[in-house]
Amino acid sequence: MMSQPLVLGIETSCDETAVGIVRGRTLLANVISSSVEEHARFGGVVPEIASRAHIEAMTSVISQALVEAKISLADIDAFAVTAGPGLIGALIVGVSSAQGMAIALDKPIYGVNHLSAHIAVDSLNSDHALDPAIALLVSGGHSSILQVNEIASDVRVLGSTIDDAAGEAFDKVARILDLPFPGGPSIDREAKAGNPLAIDFPRGLTHASDKEKHHFDFSFSGLKTAVSRYIQMVPEYARADVAASFQEAVVDVLLRKSLAACKESGIETLIIAGGVAANSRLRELSIQRCEAAGIELRTPPMGLCTDNGAMVAALGSIAASRGLPASTLGFAAESGIGLSKILW
Ligand code: KG4
Ligand code: ZN
Repeated sequence: MMSQPLVLGIETSCDETAVGIVRGRTLLANVISSSVEEHARFGGVVPEIASRAHIEAMTSVISQALVEAKISLADIDAFAVTAGPGLIGALIVGVSSAQGMAIALDKPIYGVNHLSAHIAVDSLNSDHALDPAIALLVSGGHSSILQVNEIASDVRVLGSTIDDAAGEAFDKVARILDLPFPGGPSIDREAKAGNPLAIDFPRGLTHASDKEKHHFDFSFSGLKTAVSRYIQMVPEYARADVAASFQEAVVDVLLRKSLAACKESGIETLIIAGGVAANSRLRELSIQRCEAAGIELRTPPMGLCTDNGAMVAALGSIAASRGLPASTLGFAAESGIGLSKILW
């Protein structure tokens, strides 16, 4: 068991080469180099371009993080790295880099789950208990409601999307509306000038008949189709109204189901994490609805919602502080892993 461990975390599951350094629950450095612009003209992340960009950026991102934290590599107590889920070639760059440093410095390393790490970032710069909690994890690849009994060892999936992830829905609808990639921030911006009540878009899986099989599951593909159909039927459509109404439909469903999970589990804390947690309407409406329901709401600061290294370091730090065993050197990245494995 380590108290106040100095942990360096590496994240390379998608298009961000990111390194974070924490001491215990205090954030010391958070450096991100993104290849997002290299993917923009393809309308989505190209795995091979992402992997190559990670290799090119890795050493300088690590150096910058050490400078920002005012420490040297030899001071690090433990390393942490995203081992899955994510793009396999991208993950391998991070895992190899972290393992190389751990071997060279003879320090422990924790391979960690990206999804759990998104939630663990909530532990930084505050001293409240992280678990138990209900977590709404909404990113480009995942949309789930989780029951977090123990962040590093016991996270249960209560429900997930049965088709598109929430962030993916934002990205696809942005493309339909001819807004730039990544779609989440574009729609968020466009929606500010629109009326969220202009169009009553469908709320997937919220009918009474969905309660038995899909109580905490999401579906966004019907909503995406409804947006498509709407702009075909109304060629002179007001883009800001469509963006605002689409966003309202997504956010409404996310919050309805999250609050139902809190109520039914008796857990009075909701953590909202992942890239879509940066959405301004989700942040606004979650404050209102949690206040009304007597639920304690925790949302990471904007800069820690999308992929970053601080979240990986945070989970590594929790694992080390709680005395959980480090990973065996040579562990492999796993692309399609769920939450059955949190530490490698
Ligand atoms: O967590 P993240 O950085 O990467 C994954 O693990 O997927 O999430 C990226 C997703 C993208 O789909 C992006 O469009 C979405 O988060 N996103 C947003 C906003 N900022 C990022 N979605 C809605 N509103 C935002 N402001
Ligand atoms: Zn992510």
